Parts: sequence; C-alpha cells; structure tokens
Amino acid sequence: MTRTAAPSPRGLLLSEYITSLTRADAPIPGPARPEIALAGRSNVGKSSLLNLLVGRRSLARASRTPGKTRALNVFSWGDRCYLVDVPGYGWAKVGQAERAAWHRLVEGYVAERPALAGVIWLLDIRREPSPEDLDFRACLVARSMPTLVVLTKADQVGRAKRDERVAAVGAGTGMDGKDFLITSARTREGAEEFREAVLAFLG
Ligand code: GTP
Ligand code: MG
Repeated sequence: MTRTAAPSPRGLLLSEYITSLTRADAPIPGPARPEIALAGRSNVGKSSLLNLLVGRRSLARASRTPGKTRALNVFSWGDRCYLVDVPGYGWAKVGQAERAAWHRLVEGYVAERPALAGVIWLLDIRREPSPEDLDFRACLVARSMPTLVVLTKADQVGRAKRDERVAAVGAGTGMDGKDFLITSARTREGAEEFREAVLAFLG
C-alpha cells in the first residue's frame, strides 16, 4: 500500500519570516505561491492573529524592526501560501506624507497584486467601524476580493453582549454579521475555526 505524499490539512504548517516589501509590486524571493493578507486598523490585532494561526507566539512581532513596521511583512505558511502582515491604518499621529505612502503601498497591493488570493479583514469587536474601515472595504469590493471578516479581542466582551456587538459591526460595515469569525488571540477562542477558514480560502 502506498501512502499519499500530500500533507494532511490538519498537519502543522511551519511558518517563518521571509521578507518585508516596501513596494506593492515587489517580488517575494522563493517559489511563487498565493498570498493571503491580514489587514485592518492599527492595533486591531493583526500580528497577534497571525501568530495564533501559525502557532508561534511572537513570530510576526519579531520582524517589527524600526523602519519595517510600515512595510508588508511576509511569512511562509508551510508550502500553502504566503501570509502578509499589512501595516495598519488609522494611526492618529502620522502626517500627510506617511498617510500617502500607506495608501500607495496598501491600496496598491490590494488593488493590483496578481498573487493576492484573499484578504483577512480584522475588526475590533468592541469598536464601531471607522471611516477608514469603510474606505478599506470599498477597496476590497472594487476588486471583488475574497474576504474573510474576523472580529478580534472577543475576550473583552462578555457573552451577553456578543450578539449586540456582532450586529453593530455588521450594521456599521453593511455586512452580514453571521459571516464573521469571532476570535481572541488571548484565550485562543475561534483559533481552530479560523485556521479551517483560511485553509478553505486557499481551496
Ligand atoms: P499594528 O501592527 O501596530 O497595526 O498592530 P496589530 O494590528 O498588529 O496588533 P497587535 O497584534 O500588535 O496587537 C495590538 C495590541 O492588542 C497588543 O497589545 C496585543 O496584546 C493586543 N491584542 C491582540 N489580540 C488581542 C486579543 O485577542 N485580546 C486582547 N485582550 N488583546 C489583544
Ligand atoms: Mg502588527
């Protein structure tokens, strides 16, 4: 009897830091693979969720050397795809020039990157979606980008308030809250569903 060589979808997919891109069209060194981006406002929990997905406590943070935090940080995920940690938007203290640079990099990446197979869009379960969240959503819609919506920091909201918060974020984005994944990087709530959803995303 021969064994199949294909790794089990439940098997561990090793992840490592690959590179940081400062241009939306910059190549990733190594084999061509689909790219999955994690995006959302600053501090929403992108790096924490990436670490949760790949099962490494501080992988995404490890690459946050000064000058690279405004770049697209690329990680492998086994041989499945590249995970791309996108710099957050809505950081109050940045000036006009930096804001423009962010738009060029991130919107350029989302709008035009051929290898981009999908976006994991993070929203904080406690917060009303911001005007910048809605701008970002418009960018996703413009390219008909497959999008997985993940609500973060669920540990900060009691069970009794959950449905209310999901409905509020749904109403604020014009989306159906039933499709949102609810997660906490702190308690690992939703981690397995999230992993399954990302694998399903890759087909
Ligand atoms: P930027 O890269 O700066 O845009 O931030 P980010 O979106 O990558 O967020 P990051 O993962 O760095 O988390 C921001 C803060 O939120 C950190 O202090 C995390 O510890 C905290 N945080 C992230 N996820 C959770 C969560 O599920 N629950 C709670 N309570 N805090 C979280
Ligand atoms: Mg981050």
